[in-house]
Amino acid sequence: MLTTAFILITPLGASLISEKPCLADSFYGSFNGQSIFNLSPTCFASMPKLDSGVIIPTYHPIQQLVWIQKQSVDEALWMHQNTTSLSALDQLFNRLSTTLEPSSTDSRAYGDQQVFITSESDAHYEILYHTSSAALLSLNPAAARIVDTILPPFYKSSLLFTSRASYVPVPEEKVEAVKRFLSSLKFNPVVASIVNSISIPQMKRDIRYLTGEDDDSPILSRHSFAAGSRIAAAWLKEHFEATGATCELKDFLVGFAPNVICRYPSTVETSATVILSAHYDSRGSLGSTKAPGGDDDGSGVVALMGIARTILHKGLTFRSNVELVAFAGEEQGLLGSKAYSRELREAGANITVMMQADMLAYRAPGEPPQLGLPDVIGTLEVAQLVSNVSAIYSPELKVGFTPACCSDHQSFHEQGFPATHIFERAGPIIDPMYHNSGDISDRENYDFDQVKSIAKVEFATLLHVAGFDLPE
Ligand SMILES: *[C@@H]1O[C@H](CO)[C@@H](O)[C@H](O)[C@H]1NC(C)=O
Ligand SMILES: *[C@@H]1O[C@H](CO)[C@@H](O)[C@H](O)[C@H]1NC(C)=O
Ligand SMILES: *[C@@H]1O[C@H](CO)[C@@H](O)[C@H](O)[C@H]1NC(C)=O
Ligand SMILES: [Zn+2]
Repeated sequence: MLTTAFILITPLGASLISEKPCLADSFYGSFNGQSIFNLSPTCFASMPKLDSGVIIPTYHPIQQLVWIQKQSVDEALWMHQNTTSLSALDQLFNRLSTTLEPSSTDSRAYGDQQVFITSESDAHYEILYHTSSAALLSLNPAAARIVDTILPPFYKSSLLFTSRASYVPVPEEKVEAVKRFLSSLKFNPVVASIVNSISIPQMKRDIRYLTGEDDDSPILSRHSFAAGSRIAAAWLKEHFEATGATCELKDFLVGFAPNVICRYPSTVETSATVILSAHYDSRGSLGSTKAPGGDDDGSGVVALMGIARTILHKGLTFRSNVELVAFAGEEQGLLGSKAYSRELREAGANITVMMQADMLAYRAPGEPPQLGLPDVIGTLEVAQLVSNVSAIYSPELKVGFTPACCSDHQSFHEQGFPATHIFERAGPIIDPMYHNSGDISDRENYDFDQVKSIAKVEFATLLHVAGFDLPE
């Protein structure tokens, strides 16, 4: 059997790349702290022995690589879910084998992990690697398209870009600029008055359209491939434009609904740009065609809309370019944001700060309103800035770190832009309707006050960083 490639999976991501140049060309991305490389035989031959990680030889052409990962959900939530004795991943593999024909595999130990090595061509799917909470699959395109719809609850899939990824560290001067905003931060009563006028009744109306709870909404699902996601995209463009932005529906991959990219130009000559974002695509329950995405991530999207409507009502202008972006393809592996952040990197964009709001609304009974910041992925200084802004403008929020991982800010962070994630809880995911067709806004513990408190923090951070003017 001829080896076609070697897949390296290792927690030693960025540090390895700087040591071995051939790795930079073979980087496929990072997923929950594991970096994936597709090594050529020459690169493999020159690899030093690694302290941690596994190397998997492959024997026929790699198809679409898909990383499957259990998400950081609260243990209490997880316990209610697995009703069968099969592990969640085994359930997925069973579903794959009944949907598709597997290649024949033989398994053998390689490194410290069990690895399945395929021995035939024409595979519809291959399990290249798995642990109890993650797996790397090679899927034919048809299977790759549907894999997120057959995942166990609380698992997420990421399609790996077929072109190799690049990894750009955030430059020191960009971090220094964020630190300067942090050290000059102080309460501004004008900012407080602006952010306080975000309207909860308006956000309630907006979310009901996006989830389809509103009788006048035709949306059943905002899954990236569903018709409803295109309706949502057009609706978002129209409503953001009504607030004075210029929006573009930007396609990034065939079959996916577009990114919605809206821009308010700076009133002064500058390339500096601040980005606030969320993802408007969603996921429902296994076997259901409904994906209302009320919390994930309708809440982040309506926070952006609440901010946009306030920009209009106050007649605000900015001394920096401001983009409000609603991504698609997040649920298939941050695909919309990967495409857009790469495009910005190639264009030499000057991003001061990027903040992705993903899941803002759920507050567990007995818990205070919260704001969670990423414990690993993202720019710590941006998280610190958001945290200090929160203490000033939304002191009711308890701020802390969350292991809930990997929203669209990761794409920007990996392209060298200072970025963070803003989340509903200083802990793992605890919304029982996460990735569920019951994720609507009209339900217990969906807390619009918390959405507003967090939206105020995003908005105040934007105002402090971008600089702004009000009409005379
Ligand atoms: C759920 O599955 C995990 C892993 O397979 C197992 O450790 C746990 O005991 C299961 N819990 C229940 C309630 O079945
Ligand atoms: C951010 O807030 C913390 C907690 O109040 C404070 O100790 C710290 O000095 C602040 N950082 C800056 C740079 O002002
Ligand atoms: C980016 O914007 C900042 C702030 O306006 C400016 O100081 C800097 O020169 C810009 N960088 C580039 C490369 O244009
Ligand atoms: Zn999300």
